[in-house]
Amino acid sequence: MNKILELMASHTSVRKFKNEVVPDDLLNSILDAARQASTSSNVQAYSIIVIKDQEKKVKLAELCGNQVWVEKCPVFLTICPDLRRLEKVAQRQGYEFQDRSIEMFIVATVDAALVAQNILTGAESCGLGGVMIGGIRNSSDDVSKLLGLP
Ligand SMILES: Cc1cc2nc3c(=O)[nH]c(=O)nc-3n(C[C@H](O)[C@H](O)[C@H](O)COP(=O)(O)O)c2cc1C
Repeated sequence: MNKILELMASHTSVRKFKNEVVPDDLLNSILDAARQASTSSNVQAYSIIVIKDQEKKVKLAELCGNQVWVEKCPVFLTICPDLRRLEKVAQRQGYEFQDRSIEMFIVATVDAALVAQNILTGAESCGLGGVMIGGIRNSSDDVSKLLGLP
């Protein structure tokens, strides 16, 4: 075992948090490192939304199925598979971007999952804890409105 394997083997989801902020420079270091995750065709088909606003977290907790740890955590990250940004970039360069396929859905979903796992492992390597929240998909329309997503 090396330190990375030990860290991975010791993973456990955390749903209780201290009343402490995560400093921005620490958060940014974790996100910068996590964004080096492997990505299909190097398209990085995801966007990461950082949410610290307490009102938004309370609403999100409700939308995730009343998961109280969503409002109690200091930082909630919404990781969206995102093909729209690629579409915009392609259009700007004069290309047609065909994103309405199961293949592209999988590309974006896998990219998002890989970066999400990297973020969680990176956070754990810094002594932080967290948990993935699939419940974010319970009310995706309402979540989109709350976060101003396209
Ligand atoms: C895609 C995904 C969605 C998840 N959604 C939730 C969730 O909505 N709420 C929650 O409390 N845990 C959620 N989890 C955490 C799992 O319940 C947890 O990882 C699993 O039970 C194994 O426990 P461990 O992470 O402590 O090893 C999710 C995990 C994954 C990978």
